[in-house]
Amino acid sequence: MRKNEKPLIKLENVSVSFPVKNDFPFQKKRYVRAVTDVSMEIYPGETFGLVGESGCGKSTLANTTLGIQKVDSGKIFFEDQELTAMDKKQLKAARRSMQMIFQDPFSSLNPRFSVYEIISEPLRIVGGYTREQMRELVGNMLQEVGLSAGDMDRFPSDFSGGQKQRIGIARALILKPKYLVCDEPVSALDVSVHAQILNLLMDLQDKYHITYLFISHNLAVVKRICSRVLVMYFGKVMEYGDVDKIFANPVHPYTQALMSAIFDTDIDHKHERVRLKGEVPSPINPPIGCRFCGRCPQELDRCKEGDPPLLEIEEDHYVACFRHGIVEAETDG
Ligand SMILES: Nc1ncnc2c1ncn2[C@@H]1O[C@H](COP(=O)(O)OP(=O)(O)OP(=O)(O)O)[C@@H](O)[C@H]1O
Ligand code: SF4
Ligand SMILES: [Mg+2]
Repeated sequence: MRKNEKPLIKLENVSVSFPVKNDFPFQKKRYVRAVTDVSMEIYPGETFGLVGESGCGKSTLANTTLGIQKVDSGKIFFEDQELTAMDKKQLKAARRSMQMIFQDPFSSLNPRFSVYEIISEPLRIVGGYTREQMRELVGNMLQEVGLSAGDMDRFPSDFSGGQKQRIGIARALILKPKYLVCDEPVSALDVSVHAQILNLLMDLQDKYHITYLFISHNLAVVKRICSRVLVMYFGKVMEYGDVDKIFANPVHPYTQALMSAIFDTDIDHKHERVRLKGEVPSPINPPIGCRFCGRCPQELDRCKEGDPPLLEIEEDHYVACFRHGIVEAETDG
């Protein structure tokens, strides 16, 4: 938490689970616990990173912040308004200020629609714009994202992957949102265009003061563009807070493992390669105690007994690990 600063988005103890199909009749109902007891804050104008292995709940958590994923429990606030207490009409109005760009621009743009139809769709849903006004807004937005107004009557198949993502960004920004979820926005694109798209997102953020939730597997990019970060493992927060503090001093064994893998080829890196033991557990039956039990190279006996609480170890640097914050004198289990 940052002192004296009001968050744009605030999550309080948010949990989400999905029912799993039974393997045989009369089986007890089972659930995937995608997100468990997550609390976090995202501040206006920042780029907030969300990292963790595939399937750990990043997209589900991002969707809760947009009000498009129902929660089992917990509260979500957007600018002091509780999204989780809104009716459909209120939620629709709040969502005007929140948008998303998708990982895969190849499948997220309908090939039968022209670029004009794709980008103007949010304007048509909100209503109140003439066709001339919409064409002008779409033309201006195309120029903002590095395309030309003349592109609006073409179709997605005429464009490269990077250009398609620019169209996706134009669509997301046409209503001038305050908050944008970028769910792995470059991972489906050719490496040669990653930097261009990331630079475009940064330029647009500066110009329109948009707050980003940025999901990525690439920790080097997170370090470069994010101000704060949340490290997730099996639906839970492992480490969270200021990017510079966490990258300079990764405290949680899972964060250390993620960072050591990413920076293995970086000659300047200070972290030894951490090798995780054990198998990735089942999301239907997560380990009892700390979620990282069984894979953690620093596991203690007590780690299987209960969940470590998320504790602030320095300003805006939180860690959920029994090795930090509570029991100082414990020895290896
Ligand atoms: N609609 C759904 N129905 C059932 N299970 C779901 C649904 N959406 C997600 N899950 C499950 O919830 C867990 C978290 O999924 P989620 O997509 O949020 O992970 P992720 O971190 O975004 O993964 P990735 O990095 O692969 O995109 C996974 O076990 C996934 O299979
Ligand atoms: S609580 Fe225990 S198992 Fe979990 S990360 Fe810390 S040392 Fe490892
Ligand atoms: Mg995802």
